[in-house]
Amino acid sequence: MILVTGGAGFIGANFVLDWLAQVDEPVVNLDKLTYAGNRENLASLAGDARHIFVQGDIGDAALTEHLLAEHRPRAVINFAAESHVDRSIHGPGEFIHTNVVGTFRLLEAVRGYWSTLPDAEKQAFRFLHVSTDEVYGSLAPTDPAFAETNRYEPNSPYSAS
Ligand SMILES: NC(=O)c1ccc[n+]([C@@H]2O[C@H](COP(=O)([O-])OP(=O)(O)OC[C@H]3O[C@@H](n4cnc5c(N)ncnc54)[C@H](O)[C@@H]3O)[C@@H](O)[C@H]2O)c1
Repeated sequence: MILVTGGAGFIGANFVLDWLAQVDEPVVNLDKLTYAGNRENLASLAGDARHIFVQGDIGDAALTEHLLAEHRPRAVINFAAESHVDRSIHGPGEFIHTNVVGTFRLLEAVRGYWSTLPDAEKQAFRFLHVSTDEVYGSLAPTDPAFAETNRYEPNSPYSAS
């Protein structure tokens, strides 16, 4: 079992579809269904018992703690985010709520769960956080590609959060 967040969005939904096309390991999919989330992205999984969809917020610690205890995932992949640059300039509050506070609360809930696991499961456990290359700023056409060692130069509340 893995826990995917934001799995009704653009990248998360494609990840869930690809995952279940390739392996039989079930997915709990936690998504708030904001304007960016669309259950139609997952329509082909209707009736598939390997896909458990839960509508909720990654910042809801009681909910994430409950899901972790109930489903005991071996990994968490966090795609849940506010991700539209223009919206972040006009209304940054939701970006702080989800990308900063929500991610922090999810990390804390997962750390609490992880600390209860036996050593071998602890070692094998993974938390994958999906971010954006925009944290490094912008590239001119002739610039070399970003590397993880680049300095952060975010240009919007989206990329800063
Ligand atoms: N789309 C791109 O081109 C691109 C490129 C680089 C990186 N990324 C990163 O990939 C990640 C996913 O991007 P995307 O394009 O799929 O985004 P998206 O906006 O299409 O989807 C985000 C999903 O997260 C859900 N969500 C939002 N707030 C939530 C919350 N508080 N709790 C639970 N679910 C919540 C939304 O309902 C939606 O389904 C983001 O971190 C983004 O920065 C995207």
